[in-house]
Amino acid sequence: MSTALHRHPHFISLEGGEGAGKTTALNAIVDALAAHGHNVLVTREPGGTPVAERLRSMVLTPDAEIAGETLSAEAELLLVFAGRAQHVRSVIQPALDEGHFVLTDRFTDSSYAYQGGGRGLDPAWIAELERRAVGLLPGLTLLLDVDVAVGRARASGREEGPDRIEREQDDFFQRVRAVFRQRAAADPNRFRLIDASQDQAGVAAQVVTAINKFLGKEGGNG
Ligand SMILES: Nc1ncnc2c1ncn2[C@@H]1O[C@H](COP(=O)(O)OP(=O)(O)OP(=O)(O)O)[C@@H](O)[C@H]1O
Ligand SMILES: [Mg+2]
Repeated sequence: MSTALHRHPHFISLEGGEGAGKTTALNAIVDALAAHGHNVLVTREPGGTPVAERLRSMVLTPDAEIAGETLSAEAELLLVFAGRAQHVRSVIQPALDEGHFVLTDRFTDSSYAYQGGGRGLDPAWIAELERRAVGLLPGLTLLLDVDVAVGRARASGREEGPDRIEREQDDFFQRVRAVFRQRAAADPNRFRLIDASQDQAGVAAQVVTAINKFLGKEGGNG
């Protein structure tokens, strides 16, 4: 089993806190890639395969719906990485191997932000899981950054009630945002910071610009 991290130029992740607009921005990215003639597989985390979607429901089901037992931070981390290990092997790597682009709504940066920043778990442990269980790094990560209160207000407009993680308090989401921003600042080569406080058209325009620049730098050899 490899313990190295490989960055794949056709693998793109969308990251950001609750209600930042990640899922909304997916279509603009798919269209921008299609305009360059690229086929793109869209997927999401937690989840993305039948097995990983089951693990997702274990992570996101509110405690009250599973007899009130509290899921530990450590179990949460291992469940999201179990799903990610499966997602990479069953879906992401095979699509990349076939020459497709893969666009994922969340990936490992979310574990650093949520299980590391939010839950306070050791980032060195997360890095170890990333190397051993995942081994894959996006070529481009778009971080949709917005004030926590703004994102939460957007997300609260949805029909489903809050999931287990959405029930956390604002200080949890402030730590999540801080880790995302730190990671983006530490790796400007991979990350593009998107001002997600703008309206949907403004966010889409920034995202499309970032995709076009990324494809331009790649030299069109995708
Ligand atoms: N730029 C925007 N301005 C205002 N509202 C937006 C914007 N982008 C998305 N929305 C709306 O905010 C809500 C949350 O957006 P979306 O579901 O895309 O966020 P998300 O980042 O995927 O959230 P989550 O992390 O919970 O999956 C939706 O109702 C969406 O229509
Ligand atoms: Mg979403």
